[in-house]
Amino acid sequence: MSDDWRQHPDCPASGQRLCRLADVPDGGGHVLAFGDGDKPLRIIVLRSGDCIRAWHNRCPHFGMPLALKDEWLIVQPHESFKCNVHYARFRWQDGVCDDGECVGEALVAIPVTLQGDEILMGDTCAGDQLTG
Ligand code: FES
Repeated sequence: MSDDWRQHPDCPASGQRLCRLADVPDGGGHVLAFGDGDKPLRIIVLRSGDCIRAWHNRCPHFGMPLALKDEWLIVQPHESFKCNVHYARFRWQDGVCDDGECVGEALVAIPVTLQGDEILMGDTCAGDQLTG
């Protein structure tokens, strides 16, 4: 897994606010983009209750975003989510593809932390990157 997202010029700093907890539906996701132009840093935030996971929104097989808008996210709540172009399916828990074009490969985890009702950029992904 690559940490090249950290080199993105618009990568939020550790502790920077990403969104509100309320922006992410329980059992659903929220897509974020940092930076203008063709190649912003894209992040998917998923929520199970107060447990937040975030992934670099870039499919390992072809490098495309899994979804560009919240309404285009394909989720099986708390279980999996899919690329909305070629339908590779990724496990909610660890971002590993278990069906589709890149079985066994994983999305790159983005560290996040929950502070009150704010989701912030974290320092490192701890354990399975659960925040709560
Ligand atoms: S870009 Fe990989 S499944 Fe769509």
